Amino acid sequence: MRRYSISMKVFVLFCCLWAVIVEAEYLKYKDPKQPMVTRIKDLMKRMTLEEKIGQMTQIERKVASVDVMKQYFIGSVLSGGGSVPAPKASAEDWINMVNDIQMAALSTRLGIPMIYGIDAVHGHNNVYNATIFPHNIGLATALEVRATGIPYAFAPCIAVCRDPRWGRCYESYSEDHKIVRTMTEIIHGLQGDLPANSRKGVPFVGGKSNVAACAKHFVGDGGTVRGIDENNTVINSNGLYGIHMPAYYDSIIKGVSTVMVSYSSWNGEKMHANRDLVTGFLKGKLNFRGFVISDWQGIDRITSPPHANYTYSVQAGVSAGIDMVMVPTNYTEFIDTLTQLVKDSVIPMSRIDDAVKRILRVKFTMGLFENPLADLSLVNQLGSQEHRELAREAVRKSLVLLKNGKSASQPLLPLPKKAPKILVAGSHADNLGYQCGGWTIEWQGAAGNDLTVGTTILSAIKKTVDPSTQVVSQQNPDANFVKSNEFDYAVVVVGEVPYAEMFGDSTNLTITDPGPSTINNVCGAVKCVVVVVSGRPVVLEPYVDKIDALVAAWLPGSEGQGVADVLFGDYGFTGKLARTWFKSVDQLPMNVGDRHYDPLFPFGSGLTTQPVKMN
Ligand SMILES: *[C@@H]1O[C@H](CO)[C@@H](O)[C@H](O)[C@H]1NC(C)=O
Ligand SMILES: *[C@@H]1O[C@H](CO)[C@@H](O)[C@H](O)[C@H]1NC(C)=O
Ligand SMILES: *[C@@H]1O[C@H](CO)[C@@H](O)[C@H](O)[C@H]1NC(C)=O
Ligand SMILES: *[C@@H]1O[C@H](CO)[C@@H](O)[C@H](O)[C@H]1NC(C)=O
Ligand SMILES: *[C@@H]1O[C@H](CO)[C@@H](O)[C@H](O)[C@H]1NC(C)=O
Repeated sequence: MRRYSISMKVFVLFCCLWAVIVEAEYLKYKDPKQPMVTRIKDLMKRMTLEEKIGQMTQIERKVASVDVMKQYFIGSVLSGGGSVPAPKASAEDWINMVNDIQMAALSTRLGIPMIYGIDAVHGHNNVYNATIFPHNIGLATALEVRATGIPYAFAPCIAVCRDPRWGRCYESYSEDHKIVRTMTEIIHGLQGDLPANSRKGVPFVGGKSNVAACAKHFVGDGGTVRGIDENNTVINSNGLYGIHMPAYYDSIIKGVSTVMVSYSSWNGEKMHANRDLVTGFLKGKLNFRGFVISDWQGIDRITSPPHANYTYSVQAGVSAGIDMVMVPTNYTEFIDTLTQLVKDSVIPMSRIDDAVKRILRVKFTMGLFENPLADLSLVNQLGSQEHRELAREAVRKSLVLLKNGKSASQPLLPLPKKAPKILVAGSHADNLGYQCGGWTIEWQGAAGNDLTVGTTILSAIKKTVDPSTQVVSQQNPDANFVKSNEFDYAVVVVGEVPYAEMFGDSTNLTITDPGPSTINNVCGAVKCVVVVVSGRPVVLEPYVDKIDALVAAWLPGSEGQGVADVLFGDYGFTGKLARTWFKSVDQLPMNVGDRHYDPLFPFGSGLTTQPVKMN
């Protein structure tokens, strides 16, 4: 009896299995042995309009519930600046969040994996305990992004910032497009080295420790009038193609997977609606085969005021050639509007198919179909000592020494490690948030040392000087205090407080108070080196004569030790200005090569020091 029952069960089980096997027909698109074109073609012919439009939709993680992912076949999810699964979330928390969303995508009819993207623009900057690199230097970012289960970074920014009044100037490598072009090497750092047989324009992502990159913002974002964010770039074709476009040639040759469109306009026409440049030039002339993504609510801003006519926005943006729309929250409105436009034949099916093909091409290239879920194998990479050492090296190499001693024969740097008593002053000496700048944990960045894990410049100095040296630290000492203390020398660290995007637009470019009075109080009384922590050149001319030595530290990130490494001569200064340092803001815009060029410190300047020999 028992026997019979067991074989009965086995028989039933066998029948069930057989049914499953018969039903699981061979799906070409799921077979990694098939060529990619075959896989894309096979998948496309199975997809409904609903599923195709879902692929074109990118939504914010806060609205990406399991139901939404399944019901709308959402193709991509992002973290906006500062959007995290929990405060101080660990790599495991991130992986679990991304995997939950991915499992919802995989459970749909065709099981197309979603692609998760994030603004990792100077290291994996939204994530607690990640290594924060100097802004614009993204070395080793890929591994830390993958460590949290995310395969797509909205970087690099290849803007050519032509006016430092722009709030995003620190996201740009240089005012000189030649420097920006060489920095597109970062694409290999993010995506992996391009194989020898790669074809121009075809996206490439190496493997499980690489991420898809995004060249942004196409095109002319750094050329807006008076540096107003998202505004109008007034320039002729020669200027656009000669200054703002060249880094796109390099990015595409280097296999960049995606390109993000700029909020800005070119001669009054919104880039999000510019078919000639997005479809005609980028996809046509340059043969770009990856996908074009909008910026956050970028299509909404095609109209003025934003969202005034969303139907028009969707029509103009998708017709211009945008393939994936960073909606990011009202996905039903986007999906319904685009669906209607297709049903009304305003947007042809061929345009939708082109978009979906490009998105699938990137997903297949990355191996997302084969490896959709992240595992824990890379979690130790996040904020690892090795990455922090690399960031520290980047800090050392990015500092620019602008002045060293009141005369060349009496240099102040390198500073002696051994001195009876020294002063460290300034609002930025002991503030991790300030030295990391915007796009750090929060979109706008934040103040303080609790923000994430790292070393402030003050604590780096304390670690570097001889144990016998007394380090006195005061943010804004008055002149009498400085005079009465007989310090051997002072280090004054001042600059800008964190900002991002339009919140950083500035017409005065001043050092934040009380920075100027700290410089006056300290440098009037004792030999001083001033370290400027800022996203761009700031007004310095009134103070330069008082200052003995001057260092531009930019936004060095979490590894403040790199600053002390060069101040005290463990390493030499080598950095050169990638930007013109103006005398006064009424000179702006003023860039290298301009006819009227009268800078405080010219483009390319930077003094050097030799490392101090030990023993
Ligand atoms: C540029 O900024 C001005 C002033 O804020 C605004 O009126 C104008 O609409 C903006 N232009 C564009 C193209 O965004
Ligand atoms: C919005 O744009 C659509 C598409 O261009 C157009 O047909 C419609 O008339 C516009 N609506 C309004 C209220 O302007
Ligand atoms: C989304 O858009 C629709 C259509 O414009 C609107 O009715 C709805 O209120 C919006 N929902 C949200 C959450 O903004
Ligand atoms: C930060 O990451 C490092 C390296 O993975 C780890 O050893 C350390 O415990 C982490 N610190 C915090 C505060 O999470
Ligand atoms: C400079 O401009 C910023 C805003 O762009 C403002 O907050 C600040 O007060 C201004 N500083 C001076 C000294 O005018």
